Amino acid sequence: MALTLKVKKEFAQQAKEFLKEKGWLDKSRILGSTPDRYVILALTESAKQSAISKKFPTAKFEHKSLPLLPPRIGNLKDLLRGILKEKEIDELIKSYDVVGDICILDIPKKLEKHELAIGHAIKRAYQYIKVVARKSGNRTKTLRIMPLKIITGEKRLNTIHKENGVFIKVDLLRAYFSPRASGERARIARLVKREEKVLVMFGGTAPSALAIAKSQPDCRIWTVDLNEDAHRLAAENVRINRFGHIITPLLGDVRDVLPKLNLRFDRIVMPFPEENWDYLGLALRYVEAGGIIHFLVFVREGEVEKTKERILKIAEKAGRKVKIKDVRLFGSYAPRVNRYVFDVEVK
Ligand SMILES: C[S@@+](CC[C@H](N)C(=O)[O-])C[C@H]1O[C@@H](n2cnc3c(N)ncnc32)[C@H](O)[C@@H]1O
Repeated sequence: MALTLKVKKEFAQQAKEFLKEKGWLDKSRILGSTPDRYVILALTESAKQSAISKKFPTAKFEHKSLPLLPPRIGNLKDLLRGILKEKEIDELIKSYDVVGDICILDIPKKLEKHELAIGHAIKRAYQYIKVVARKSGNRTKTLRIMPLKIITGEKRLNTIHKENGVFIKVDLLRAYFSPRASGERARIARLVKREEKVLVMFGGTAPSALAIAKSQPDCRIWTVDLNEDAHRLAAENVRINRFGHIITPLLGDVRDVLPKLNLRFDRIVMPFPEENWDYLGLALRYVEAGGIIHFLVFVREGEVEKTKERILKIAEKAGRKVKIKDVRLFGSYAPRVNRYVFDVEVK
């Protein structure tokens, strides 16, 4: 817990500048916000409450734990220079993720002998990293859980991650979570209009549903996952972010849940690139006329047109007319294979 300043959104910029100038803003922590339009700023130990109150009389002081900002890659490179060769550092850094206070590395086999030294170096330099883990196998087929080995730090793989202005409780041992699609989640969230009914198939711990609710509070979202732990975390995340009136987390296989729910949606998000092709027909049955399907898939280099044709063929078979409104590349998956999202408008 650290001392924070809760200030009305319209005064936040002014307060930030004042605190920065005085050296009282703790820049290592993420800013917080509340649904009633307050911004929460972390204060350093030297902050003088009386001087702050004088300048911002309506601001309040609270003890809160705001998450720490992730480390910068450039710094991590510097840090590993004494341990690894330059080429080895580049290889390692390509596949490095920070989820909450857990740092996840993908250490190539030949560098495994250095794993403890790498882990200790990271922990020493970034005090807010409490766990350093490495990938130790391939993701499971359906639940998409990544086997991880803790190299050093606390013996846990659960944490709270912050992205797109929401808090996400995750447990990497029991449910899928990856911060890599956070930008794409934000893009989709910005497209949601007032009063839309949105379905997130394969919703996991609910990062997409939460990003949408944060960006468009006047909509309804259903997020479905068959993993009990992912569903439990999704329900908890909806509660801690206070979106119970907007988001409904549902447990089960989308193939069973959708017929029972018997709703049509203005927008369907499909964030499961490994298996999405098997569910496109289902999504086409449950999307409203004029609705959009965000279809995430892996595409080999040079095969975007072929992928479009495949989507059109499935739509034709399902008896729906579609138009591909947008095609976006959002990261690579394997050599010569990229992650794409196709925004499919259904007539
Ligand atoms: C790639 S993960 C995506 C999770 C989440 N959207 C995210 O980005 O964090 C795929 C998720 O789909 C779930 N899943 C797999 N098959 C499913 C099905 N038939 N119905 C519902 N959920 C399913 C898995 O449990 C897993 O959480």
